[in-house]
Amino acid sequence: MTTERDYWERHARNYDASMRLLGGPLPRMLELASAAVRDKQVLEVAAGTGIVTTAIAQTASNIVATDYAAAMVKKLEHRVRDARLANVRCEQADIYELRFAPDTFDVVVAANVLHLVPDLGRAIASIQRVLKPAGLLVAPTFCHDETKTAWLLSQLIALSGFPGHRRFTARSLTDTLQHQGLRIQRSETLSGLIPIGYVEGAF
Ligand SMILES: C[S@@+](CC[C@H](N)C(=O)[O-])C[C@H]1O[C@@H](n2cnc3c(N)ncnc32)[C@H](O)[C@@H]1O
Repeated sequence: MTTERDYWERHARNYDASMRLLGGPLPRMLELASAAVRDKQVLEVAAGTGIVTTAIAQTASNIVATDYAAAMVKKLEHRVRDARLANVRCEQADIYELRFAPDTFDVVVAANVLHLVPDLGRAIASIQRVLKPAGLLVAPTFCHDETKTAWLLSQLIALSGFPGHRRFTARSLTDTLQHQGLRIQRSETLSGLIPIGYVEGAF
């Protein structure tokens, strides 16, 4: 049986190329995320090939960067090694099964993954468990229903078997996270072919 994880194992090869097409919102997203993690102990979930990791490593104290797809972790390790980042450790981990003690991290970065997880409540609970009290969740997320262009592009991407579970607008993203108990401290809509809703807050 083919799983959603298999999609990401296969997609690791061309993920960076797809992000060149969809990367319009990235500069502002990386600027905001880098400011949020300054001097913090960070867990990054669903780090993919490390596009976000290598940017936020410039300001974070240290980062444990994780993804559940082995092929993604391999790409991530290469990128971290090439950038000579001594403050990043890479591990394979499922967002639902984070093998860290409770209250470990100042910040959890979950970039472009909350629209993908089948069980959002379980993913948030798992993140919340490893965050210190009043720790920060940084969750910039592609919003496939934000514009007509995004909607159209998203339909095309879906034909390739893209395993999306939620079609957010920037508004529905903040509403959903508030409903999950997040007190939002910053939100911005970052424009692009598929806009990103940038959200950070604490539980
Ligand atoms: C759209 S990519 C985002 C990668 C990176 N955060 C970025 O913004 O460039 C989604 C990533 O989520 C990972 N992923 C999906 N479901 C996951 C899960 N349950 N646990 C951990 N990683 C997951 C995939 O393997 C993939 O690398």
